[in-house]
Amino acid sequence: MNTLIRNGAVVTAQETRQADVLIEGERIKEVRAGIPESSAAKVIDATGMYVIPGGIDVHTHLDMPFGGSKSSDDFETGTRAAAFGGTTSIVDFAIQGRGARMRDALDTWWKKAEGRASIDYGLHMIVTDLGASGLEDMDEMVDEGVASFKLFMAYPNVLMVDDATIFKALARTAKNGALICMHAENGSVIDVIVARALAEGKTAPIYHALTRPVRAESEAVHRAIAMAEIAGAPVYIVHLSSEDALNEVREARDRGVPAFAETCPQYLLLSIEELERPNFEGAKYVFTPPLRPKKHLPKLWDGLRHDHLQVVSTDHCPFCFEDQKSLGKDDFTKIPNGGPGIENRLQLIHHHGVNSGKLSLNRFVELTSTTPARIFGMYPKKGEIAPGSDADLVVWDPNARHTISAKTHHMRVDYSMFEGFECRGNARTVLSRGEAIVDGGRFFGKPGRGQYLKRTARGGAWK
Ligand code: URP
Ligand code: ZN
Ligand code: ZN
Repeated sequence: MNTLIRNGAVVTAQETRQADVLIEGERIKEVRAGIPESSAAKVIDATGMYVIPGGIDVHTHLDMPFGGSKSSDDFETGTRAAAFGGTTSIVDFAIQGRGARMRDALDTWWKKAEGRASIDYGLHMIVTDLGASGLEDMDEMVDEGVASFKLFMAYPNVLMVDDATIFKALARTAKNGALICMHAENGSVIDVIVARALAEGKTAPIYHALTRPVRAESEAVHRAIAMAEIAGAPVYIVHLSSEDALNEVREARDRGVPAFAETCPQYLLLSIEELERPNFEGAKYVFTPPLRPKKHLPKLWDGLRHDHLQVVSTDHCPFCFEDQKSLGKDDFTKIPNGGPGIENRLQLIHHHGVNSGKLSLNRFVELTSTTPARIFGMYPKKGEIAPGSDADLVVWDPNARHTISAKTHHMRVDYSMFEGFECRGNARTVLSRGEAIVDGGRFFGKPGRGQYLKRTARGGAWK
């Protein structure tokens, strides 16, 4: 069936223009002004609206195991919430068990998503162990469309890998074209500081932030980029939280190094004081890297504006306050690390970025859709409004007012990090491969309709 979106302002990373969008089946067929209504069985009136490419969130953790528990959104509830917020593709993380093959992790995560996801999804692979066959496993993953790997420089004895492993993995991606995503914090140093704090009886949530200094992040970012340079590979820093870390990325990029970085709404809009909330509510803001002092926030916005940062993702990793965050009531190290956000990314960045004049509308699209698609090997299938691209489109109402609240959000979690935030601008109609899955606050998608995204290595923007 053909669908015509009429009279909207089509906004891409490049330009904004009045145009109609004709969709044939799952793809965009034509973009131009004056497409006749008779070309389509279904017409969506977008007068006064923007038409933007569906949001792409390249950092989510759905159904993620954590210390006997798991993140509270699975692929069904998480992708539905994403769709409500105008996100039509995600890239989640499969986790290789220590001593296990990456293929096993991929199969496990495919099973988690199958029959549940209502938007398209790709997978990164978290590498915990290269063992005897890890480098060959990485090539196999690339053949399966896992075009990126995450490595941890933090969480010793759990997820952290040493520099030799990082360097070997980077060198492999220099050959197979994939991209290493780095969780950049010096985990060994942090662990010593954490042990010291606990020994001094410092157990409240605020100590999660106070034991993870900014320099532990910037040192790791510096080291990650240096290792990538030696290996001749690009590198992508995930959830960058501080000015100091940003300076490392900027300095490398100024030298022409293919270093990329993302930040998340929480680092742009919240600060360390949140962890001091009474009644253990600071635990709602326990994730890593931690929230930073307020002075870092405008620096991150500047980084987005000047392309020192290329992507806004969410690091959506929800745990309920009542029965999950509470595991750390007497010891902040037992608080499950992570926070919810998959639903609110576009609302928050549009309101605090575009409405406040920090970002252009085109930069908003670039940061939340087009560049993630390019860097992670999905472009131009995703992240673009052009003939041949998937019809993942959002009719965005720039004047819709929305107050974020756990009472009304669709994420399966009992609090919002952005409770009471008022935003102007929201998704009105969300199309995924030509199908309207959200319209006027109602969900029409079906669990299982989301497809696995086989991503292309060497699809990145570093070429
Ligand atoms: O605290 C966080 N960020 N939890 C999710 C796992 C990660 O490191 O991205
Ligand atoms: Zn991480
Ligand atoms: Zn994460």
